[in-house]
Amino acid sequence: MFPAELRAYCLRALIALLLASATNASGLACAQQQASIVSAVHQTVQDTNEMWWKHAVIYEIYPRSFQDSNGDGIGDLNGITQRLDYLKDLGVDAIWITPIYPSPQVDFGYDIADYTAIDPQYGTMVDFDRLMKAAKAREIRVIMDFVPNHTSDKHPWFVESSSSRTNPKRDWYIWRDGQAPGQPPNNWLSWFGHSAWKFDPQTGQYYYHHFYAEQPDLNWRNPEVRKAMYGVMRFWLDRGVAGFRLDAVSRLFEDQNLLDDPLLPGKNAYGDPNIRHLHTDNLPEVHEVLQEMRQVVDQYPGNPVLISEADEPDISELTKLYGSKLDEIQLPMDFQVADVNQLSAVRFRDLIDQIEDNSAGGQPYFFFNNHDQDRTWDRYGDGVHNDAIARVLATLLLTTRATPQLYYGEEIGMVTTPPARREDVRDPIGRLGWPNEKGRDGERTPMQWDSSNNAGFTTSPTPWLPVSPGYRQRNVAIEEKDPDSLLNFYKHLIRLRRDRRALRYGIQVTVNCHDADVLSYLRKNPGDGESVLVLLNMSNKSKKATFNLNPLGIHGTSAKPLLAYPNTSTAEVPLDAILLPPFGTVVAEVK
Ligand code: GLC
Repeated sequence: MFPAELRAYCLRALIALLLASATNASGLACAQQQASIVSAVHQTVQDTNEMWWKHAVIYEIYPRSFQDSNGDGIGDLNGITQRLDYLKDLGVDAIWITPIYPSPQVDFGYDIADYTAIDPQYGTMVDFDRLMKAAKAREIRVIMDFVPNHTSDKHPWFVESSSSRTNPKRDWYIWRDGQAPGQPPNNWLSWFGHSAWKFDPQTGQYYYHHFYAEQPDLNWRNPEVRKAMYGVMRFWLDRGVAGFRLDAVSRLFEDQNLLDDPLLPGKNAYGDPNIRHLHTDNLPEVHEVLQEMRQVVDQYPGNPVLISEADEPDISELTKLYGSKLDEIQLPMDFQVADVNQLSAVRFRDLIDQIEDNSAGGQPYFFFNNHDQDRTWDRYGDGVHNDAIARVLATLLLTTRATPQLYYGEEIGMVTTPPARREDVRDPIGRLGWPNEKGRDGERTPMQWDSSNNAGFTTSPTPWLPVSPGYRQRNVAIEEKDPDSLLNFYKHLIRLRRDRRALRYGIQVTVNCHDADVLSYLRKNPGDGESVLVLLNMSNKSKKATFNLNPLGIHGTSAKPLLAYPNTSTAEVPLDAILLPPFGTVVAEVK
């Protein structure tokens, strides 16, 4: 980038904007849009630092389900290494691997019994180092999952802590007396159902667990806990990892006075009263820890990244995660955008404009799929246009300024396949909440590589979860050969994102504030002015796209499609004559 030129451009753009808003009140002028322009100007200035994570495509791997290399039915590290060429070809810059540490696997790895080793189910430290080396050779970074909120109840720290009230590690966890015999300390509920307190008969106290009872919460007010956990981060940074995805990080602290959480109407899937997790989520002290974690990663070369999993209630809460001096999380996951759950141009536009305009000037981070929620194919599909809808979402994910994260299999259109019977459920919440809550097995089924038995995932006749039945029609091998497949569409988008300066470095501006069906935005590269228009028809009607680019200093008259679906023509069209079929997608260079 060219900082001086960039800054001058931004100032010019800002002045043009102010003039436009002063003189053209009736034209484009929509407050929301102008806010976007201002924020884009602001953020582009900061982009000159060229942080890799601003431009990376991140791919989440659920290792149990990605590729099994030793025929035991469970994916492993060597399996990931075998598939790195696939990921390279897809265009992935970094992989986030969900937990691979020794674990009783109650929560499939999110219950960690040793933070600085590899679970034998997944391989060895030698395998890990081999994966790191092979990934580096392909310029793919590796991001670890770090679970700071809780350990496994089999972790030696907890074993010690629960051994007696006077054990030196007693205070490493949250131990409290019950209110009365048989009554937990207060009404706090576990995210995974029922009381968040479990009684320990040996020491006569309760311990707190935000998630499963086998996942006791660490006490982050204890400085020894912090020291130990920052040591864990250094252990992996020393081995060359590119950063961490911080699991459930907003839950690190609980109210010290154990105030009851407020009750809400109705019951949850587990039959408990609904409550607002007011006193166990998002406490202000979280930010102190995030700053400390940031200081740990900042001591390492290569700009390691922190990605937070924190399901914030709105964009203003999400913004706090960047830190007031951008000194906390570089990439807070945007659950607002992830969970819109209806194909609504109005809703997406509003949320995207809000995060673009975040007061911290932080980099947005978008994803639509992960290992905790139904896949988008089912969440957004209407049963008729699922393929086109998948492309609308893929385009949205990969053409905004936000860092995009994919989840394995979304690029081939994998579907959610929940278990049909309670006895087949592997995820404990699915057994507890059946049939209202079927658990998360459905989005964790094995990757579909080819049409052979068990989709090329494993040679075992019994994969840990059954392969989704449609795999013979939908898999990597088939889609690689079909130029019009969803997989090739993703590859094309990722290449455009990498090669087009407008998509890689450009500011982002919403260019139609009022269309209820079509989401339209422009990416413009400050350096050479390259401009790329993105039009996403989120309705089942044919639509003519309408927008105004003049206030952005763009006077082109036609658009040259770089990618379009279901029309695939790349013929140049006048800007005022772009027609979008139902759920149509157009990514076009403005000429
Ligand atoms: C996060 C993980 C989820 C896990 C929970 C408890 O939400 O994504 O899979 O069950 O934390 O660690």
